[in-house]
Amino acid sequence: MTAARLLALTVALVCSGGVQALENGLARTPPMGWLAWERFRCNTDCVNDPHNCISETLFMQMADILVSQGYRELGYNLVSLDDCWLARDRDSRGRLQADAHRFPSGIPALSDYMHKRGLKFGIYEDYGNFTCAGYPGILGHLQKDAETFAEWGVDYVKLDGCYSHPTDMDRGYPEFGYFLNKTGRPMVYSCSWPFYQIYSRMKPNYSAIINTCNLWRNFDDIQDSWESVQRIIDYYGDNQDEIVPNAGPGHWNDPDMLIIGNFGLSYEQSKSQMAMWAIFAAPLLMSVDLRTIRPEYKAILQNQAVIAVNQDPLGIQGKRIYKDKGIEIWARPISPISQGHYSYAIAFLNRRTDGTPSEVSVTLRELGLAFPGGYAITDLFDGVQYGTVLPDKRFKVDVNPSGVVLVRCEVVKTTGFGSDVRAPVNPAQPQSAFRNPFNNQLFNPFG
Ligand SMILES: *[C@@H]1O[C@H](CO)[C@@H](O)[C@H](O)[C@H]1NC(C)=O
Ligand SMILES: *[C@@H]1O[C@H](CO)[C@@H](O)[C@H](O)[C@H]1NC(C)=O
Ligand SMILES: *[C@@H]1O[C@H](CO)[C@@H](O)[C@H](O)[C@H]1NC(C)=O
Repeated sequence: MTAARLLALTVALVCSGGVQALENGLARTPPMGWLAWERFRCNTDCVNDPHNCISETLFMQMADILVSQGYRELGYNLVSLDDCWLARDRDSRGRLQADAHRFPSGIPALSDYMHKRGLKFGIYEDYGNFTCAGYPGILGHLQKDAETFAEWGVDYVKLDGCYSHPTDMDRGYPEFGYFLNKTGRPMVYSCSWPFYQIYSRMKPNYSAIINTCNLWRNFDDIQDSWESVQRIIDYYGDNQDEIVPNAGPGHWNDPDMLIIGNFGLSYEQSKSQMAMWAIFAAPLLMSVDLRTIRPEYKAILQNQAVIAVNQDPLGIQGKRIYKDKGIEIWARPISPISQGHYSYAIAFLNRRTDGTPSEVSVTLRELGLAFPGGYAITDLFDGVQYGTVLPDKRFKVDVNPSGVVLVRCEVVKTTGFGSDVRAPVNPAQPQSAFRNPFNNQLFNPFG
């Protein structure tokens, strides 16, 4: 296809939709599920390591556990391949094919396996000549590969960006999105587009990205360490003015997988990742061996109250509103809304390492929470209920080193303040109202 023709198609798509974001009806809340990469990488050695290699067995086992151990009921309903599922070559008709030894039943059968269990099936490819691990990429085969995915019953496509030019991505990612759409099969579209452009010092065109993708990566791959998690948290805080407004129902920033339950995070750090990913309105894509995860880490991943913050229907991403001396406070506007006031999830994050909990003391008003009726506050990890707290009442939490306290502050609906006025839930409205709370001057939490 020529660039001119593609441009015409893209413009037609945008105009006919009459909206500023991709509207394929999908990912109205951040996707949740299980993704192979961080934990299982490109282990293709099924001879010596059959239990952990990238094979259909691994994905079927994870699917079984999502169903039998309650993950699916909590919303973790996606099982997704990552790199290294492919054969080294396309088939005689030029179509992608799975590695025949490791996926002997074939991809349609694996996809079927997921659907029979009420799960969604995700696949990985790359907008380049090769995937990052050197398997066939989609460049030169965009339409055919989109059609193949649709035939296979794919529900979610992660499209990486190795072996392609970041300058081509403004054309390439929308082009593949166009072909995905044209198949008629709804498929969540996960892009790596801004990440590769930022990495090569380009400025991503987020309006184009929002028009094209349901979610997108903008920072490095997560690794199995607290340091890696902190680098992501810093990136999201330091760049929040640019990236936070881009999130909303159907389109999300993706800070990469949850590594909870693996080797690198302590119990406190695991709660911190879960809390921050809830604040970020981030996809909750676990990459962990669900066969061996310890119960306390499983409990973090299955914390319903934290998941509810992550999946809040307003879909507003939270922001860092305070950062000093290793203490950070993050706030995310959530539902319910009463009389024009949002409820909030507030994360108190302690980045300090001086081995004793830090006391953080604030009033809700200092955080921008000024609803006169007050807020019902609940600690989402230990379940403590603080009751109704009025805006000027001082509120204290003890935050463990490299740990977090995540509270839900729900506007208290009383009859004394007139009837509820629900703020209209459209993308423009929450964002303008939402900017307001963060304009408050900073305060000293130690004061
Ligand atoms: C992909 O491969 C084709 C054919 O070999 C080549 O012309 C093109 O430059 C390659 N593209 C990239 C981005 O490497
Ligand atoms: C294709 O795009 C149109 C216009 O945005 C949208 O209404 C439709 O739901 C999309 N279909 C699929 C299968 O993604
Ligand atoms: C960014 O993308 C939008 C929508 O696709 C387009 O209208 C605009 O011209 C692009 N901006 C730049 C600076 O390229």
